[in-house]
Amino acid sequence: MLFPSRVRNLAVAFLLAIGVAQADPELRTIIDDSNDAIRYAGTWKTSPPAHASFTYGGNYALTTERSASATFNFTGVAVYFYAPRWPFNVSTQVALDGGPPVLVDLTDHSRSLLPNADPNASPSTITQVVWNMTDLNYGEHVLRVSVERDQAFSVVDAIMYTPQQSTGVYTSAISFVTATPGPETSSSKQPPALAIALGTVSSFLGLVLLLIGILAYRRYRRHQEAKRVAEWGESRQVPNNEVVSVRS
Ligand SMILES: *[C@@H]1O[C@H](CO)[C@@H](O)[C@H](O)[C@H]1NC(C)=O
Ligand SMILES: *[C@@H]1O[C@H](CO)[C@@H](O)[C@H](O)[C@H]1NC(C)=O
Ligand SMILES: *[C@@H]1O[C@H](CO)[C@@H](O)[C@H](O)[C@H]1NC(C)=O
Repeated sequence: MLFPSRVRNLAVAFLLAIGVAQADPELRTIIDDSNDAIRYAGTWKTSPPAHASFTYGGNYALTTERSASATFNFTGVAVYFYAPRWPFNVSTQVALDGGPPVLVDLTDHSRSLLPNADPNASPSTITQVVWNMTDLNYGEHVLRVSVERDQAFSVVDAIMYTPQQSTGVYTSAISFVTATPGPETSSSKQPPALAIALGTVSSFLGLVLLLIGILAYRRYRRHQEAKRVAEWGESRQVPNNEVVSVRS
């Protein structure tokens, strides 16, 4: 009884974990600057290897051309723009879905600033989310990066997006599996609707199996309890029997 019950509980925990992982609304996909999904217009160059440690994927794309732009189309609900920062006054421009461009500060304010923005200078902070937009309507969105009129350059290091809607089922309460932003999650290659359906079904399955596991475990506990009481009774009876047998 003991062995099968333990195995069942383990199996249940495992299946539940899988269910949570598949239905996790936080699954994200990160796109490096060199990814073909980003369309570059105008002249962009790749940052030198010397700047690699400040970047995602070894380099960032940089332009000094006023009219240059980078466009990224994605289907999802959230988007995060990554860039390093520099020890001088510099900003880039981003616009979502044809809206007005927003100036994103790429200045490393933890340092004393150099007087001039230098497109060849090394960043001074490692790449991080410098702008994001969440709670978007699920659907296709367009992110456009461009150079502000008074700025010396613009950059693209990486863009992360959330490709699916939150299922909102059991996933926020239970979280032994946390998704980490990593290159090209496999879920992004599935149609989101299918991924959500699979996730929901397996979460539900996990919950049902968890309930079965709990019931089985309680039954096992009751059984053990009964056995212990019986054994205890027996052990109490033994000396009495002995006494009786000595006497007789
Ligand atoms: C991105 O979306 C815009 C607007 O829907 C469209 O005009 C453009 O062709 C798309 N770009 C790519 C590369 O699919
Ligand atoms: C930094 O750049 C911004 C945007 O172009 C500008 O408004 C601001 O005055 C500049 N700050 C300094 C200290 O030069
Ligand atoms: C996203 O932007 C909001 C407000 O603009 C900010 O409070 C939040 O910290 C940002 N998230 C990340 C991951 O940078």
